[in-house]
Amino acid sequence: MNVPSSLSRREFAKRLLAGSAVSLSALEGLNAGIYQKVTALNQKYLEDEAPDGVYWEEIRGLYDFEDRFIMMNNGTLGPMPKPVFNTLTRYFRVQMTNPYDGYNYLPTFREAVRAKLAAFINASPEEVALTSNTTEGLNLVINGLDLKEGDDVLISNFEHPGHIGPWKLKEKRAGVKVKEVALGVTTKSVDEIVGTFAAAITPRTRMISISHTVFITGLIMPLKELSRLAHDKGLLIMADSAHGIGMLDLDMNALGIDFFASSPYKWLGAPTGVGLLYVKKEVLDKVWPTIVSSGWDSTKVAAKLDPQGQRTDALLFALDEALNFQNRIGKSRIERRIKVLAGRLKQELAKTPGVKLHTPVDPYLSAGLTAFSMTGAEPAKLVDYLREKYNLVVRTAGSSSAGTYGVRVSTPIYISTKEVDMVVEGVRTLLAHKA
Ligand SMILES: Cc1ncc(COP(=O)(O)O)c(C=O)c1O
Repeated sequence: MNVPSSLSRREFAKRLLAGSAVSLSALEGLNAGIYQKVTALNQKYLEDEAPDGVYWEEIRGLYDFEDRFIMMNNGTLGPMPKPVFNTLTRYFRVQMTNPYDGYNYLPTFREAVRAKLAAFINASPEEVALTSNTTEGLNLVINGLDLKEGDDVLISNFEHPGHIGPWKLKEKRAGVKVKEVALGVTTKSVDEIVGTFAAAITPRTRMISISHTVFITGLIMPLKELSRLAHDKGLLIMADSAHGIGMLDLDMNALGIDFFASSPYKWLGAPTGVGLLYVKKEVLDKVWPTIVSSGWDSTKVAAKLDPQGQRTDALLFALDEALNFQNRIGKSRIERRIKVLAGRLKQELAKTPGVKLHTPVDPYLSAGLTAFSMTGAEPAKLVDYLREKYNLVVRTAGSSSAGTYGVRVSTPIYISTKEVDMVVEGVRTLLAHKA
């Protein structure tokens, strides 16, 4: 039996569950109950734009961590909140119980997910490609651009291997020159960053390609100002924003960026395997698709960059649910909470003799990643101490040769000031013992 394309998602969910061992009401109620809780919390705290304490304790209850496990490295990989996991497993059931619907029905919702993702970042659906991760998005753009021998591209000294690698490949294959612009470890102002890039532009420069969310120092690059600089000089600009979605209240229109890649499984709560690639309408025709099937030459929107072949649609349903979850709480409230927690951490670290902050204090130039080093204390020792004492996960980051070797702490919405204080206690204890 063919599934009519008009079948609503709700009707389909009912069909899916007919005959299954789990009762329909139990499964339908699963996520609805969770969202009712968030709505009730929102109403309770309507007056308060940055509710603390009870609100966020309740939000934490919507995750299913192991006993006492505290994840403060979701900058590498974040947890899925319960509704996202419920949805993911529900749609993986389709392949188990009825693969026919897996290829006939599930793909019909792809465009709805694309549209929701586009709205979430204030872009149009024509500007959004559904990738697997940030690395893939960056590769698709770099590989697809017609750059040639004699063209220069500017990157910074803080780039991730997933961003440097495809540029090095392009350098080898196309003769493009990739130039590293050196920013200071404790860069503190928008003018300093924009001025450093402006000074590096030559008549050969074609593009600025930079990290938005610097994984080593936690710096948030001033994309809006850098986009303005790039466009004033007739250059393209791309942002590696692996951590951006779910951490920052993103607005592609306001940022003015040409290309933007992000990984929703760090801060947004989506499962691994889904990624965002934004391509501004005006530059769509500058990028060739890479992983194609039929239709590559007729598709004129960003979907032409979607890697072709059978896709894992259950992941897209889960991404959709992660967007629902964040929308229900509110993007600006999330960004604000993340910055409040990071602000407290930075304030306490700044008061601690022997600590050197690598992350700017300015909330315009920083968000959920905080990095620092300690004079006389080993970063790896702090990672071990926090794991052993509190079952709390952070990571080391950076390199000694660049003066950036230290500890990186993520402050997502499911942690509280109590856990921030555990990190501070660890730092002070190690410094007291010069560990
Ligand atoms: C700044 C930055 N870019 C790129 C990546 C690669 O992301 P992914 O593995 O999701 O492609 C990361 C991973 O943490 C990152 O921090």
